[in-house]
Amino acid sequence: AARFNSTVLPPLVADLVNHEKAPLYASLAALLLVVLIASSSSSSSSAASKSRKPLPPHVPHSVPLLGNAVPYGVQPVSYLRQCMDKFGDCFTFTMMGRKMTFCLDPDGNHFVFNVKLANATAEGAYDKLTVPVFGTEVVYDVPNSVLMEQKKFVKDALTTSAFKAYVPIIVDEARALFAAWPDSNESLELFPEMAELTIRTASHCLMGKEIRDQLHSNVAKLYHDLDAGFKPINVFFRWLPLPSYFARDRAHKIMTQTFLDILANRRTAAASIAAAVAADPSISAPPPPQDVLQSLMDAVYRDGSKMSDEAVAHMMIALLMAGQHTSSTSTSWIIFELARDPATVAALLREQAEVLTGDPNTPPHLLPELTYDALRKFTLLDRVMKESLRLHSPIHTVMRLVIQDLEYKGYTIPAGHFLCASPSVSQYDPAKFPNPEKFDPSRWETPTAGEDGIVGEWNINGVDIAQKAARSSYLPFGAGRHRCIGEFFAHKQIGAIISMFVREFEFEMKRDSKTGERPKAEPDFTSLIVMPVKGSSIEYRRREALRKA
Ligand code: HEM
Repeated sequence: AARFNSTVLPPLVADLVNHEKAPLYASLAALLLVVLIASSSSSSSSAASKSRKPLPPHVPHSVPLLGNAVPYGVQPVSYLRQCMDKFGDCFTFTMMGRKMTFCLDPDGNHFVFNVKLANATAEGAYDKLTVPVFGTEVVYDVPNSVLMEQKKFVKDALTTSAFKAYVPIIVDEARALFAAWPDSNESLELFPEMAELTIRTASHCLMGKEIRDQLHSNVAKLYHDLDAGFKPINVFFRWLPLPSYFARDRAHKIMTQTFLDILANRRTAAASIAAAVAADPSISAPPPPQDVLQSLMDAVYRDGSKMSDEAVAHMMIALLMAGQHTSSTSTSWIIFELARDPATVAALLREQAEVLTGDPNTPPHLLPELTYDALRKFTLLDRVMKESLRLHSPIHTVMRLVIQDLEYKGYTIPAGHFLCASPSVSQYDPAKFPNPEKFDPSRWETPTAGEDGIVGEWNINGVDIAQKAARSSYLPFGAGRHRCIGEFFAHKQIGAIISMFVREFEFEMKRDSKTGERPKAEPDFTSLIVMPVKGSSIEYRRREALRKA
């Protein structure tokens, strides 16, 4: 069967049809049935609700089942902005039979990120997608209070001393990957390379050395199959008779067992070390591994219980999935932006030189090793990352399922609706970010006045409040109870990779052979995480002094 072009079809439809070996017609028929049932149950639940206030304006659509899936799926940010211009900052549209109610701008961000658990839940919106991939007993398969404790366990593991150990690991992984590339390349597709580097660094630092060592055998393939089950269609359908669903379930089982084996081996090793030390107290025991896996193995809930081994394994899968595409796409976008901004690359190198040697003119090949403490002083790098995340937030829409009618701005949002926020929309607001399409790290240099005219909406006394408060235009890591816990790790991981990349290479966007121009990379919104369109490539040369003999 001919493959459909996923850039012109909405993501859900593209997902369905791109499995070449799928018994396509049977699957589509099954899907249609499920959609019809979903659609009828969702509309009957809305009809049944006795709204005290009017419903939010409904964006019209002409295709009954898909609703507005096509324009939203292909260009969500600009489509939401168009809807906002016509219907205001709160409106509903239909997608795959579901009612999606968007609350936009800083007020909407605040409302959705801080919605009460009694009214709307993330697990209601995400469980079909996540539980089969992550597994039971974690994240959206447990009450929110348990998730909060699980997030705290992970956060507690990410200490300053852990980060000090992680930065050299990330630097070595980056150096090894770059060393394997030829000295120059006129067409390097960046995203797959950054995905490889991210999985190597994240698995090494967070998952444990054992998983890193298995990356070249089974783990990479298992990750691929799990990832294939992490697509827009999986948000709506927990199970369908499609090959990607079978592969996902198989990969989940094997991946869980892989972690369970590692857990058992660690316990055996710890027991034999303890026995050796007991027999001969002059032996000094090696320190336990400093990774998240070990912290979860040792963590204790407030009620005194511990996570089961399965739960530890499932949490590791959850972290792998949460951190992989978000970080690899963010790294790629930064490089694509820098590929069109040589002045900022030069300034980043001067910053590294100044911080590490005191002389801004030290050439890249003579720069000392990058450290965690140095990374923290790279303020331009920080602004570059912030600005790139403003333009290219990997997660453009967050969702909650309304379980009890809500009131917002004079409307009732009924139970059964998906309540959605899109910080990406406010991050392109021209009133807050003049010339919003432009990559301009300098916009983070000076505190900026907010709508109320108060200077310092994002920076007050050097503290970045946008990261803390939900009534903000800038929320790439979310806010409230579901806020990202991987931000600091991602920041150090991406910062170290970018720093090593600019030291090693001169680079530009790949030249288009027909036009002779160097076009920018375009976003592909058809997967859950916003990635560069397939094939987006750079041209690079290793810096003269670093070339291989
Ligand atoms: C939650 C973004 C990296 C783990 C979130 C949310 C966003 C986000 C927007 C909120 C989702 C919601 O409210 O529905 C990002 C970005 C990243 C990144 C932009 C990188 C540039 C990571 C990494 C990890 C991670 C590296 C793991 C080490 C999590 C977890 C949650 C989360 C556990 C909590 C989910 C919840 O409480 O419901 N992230 N993330 N993230 N992220 Fe990240």
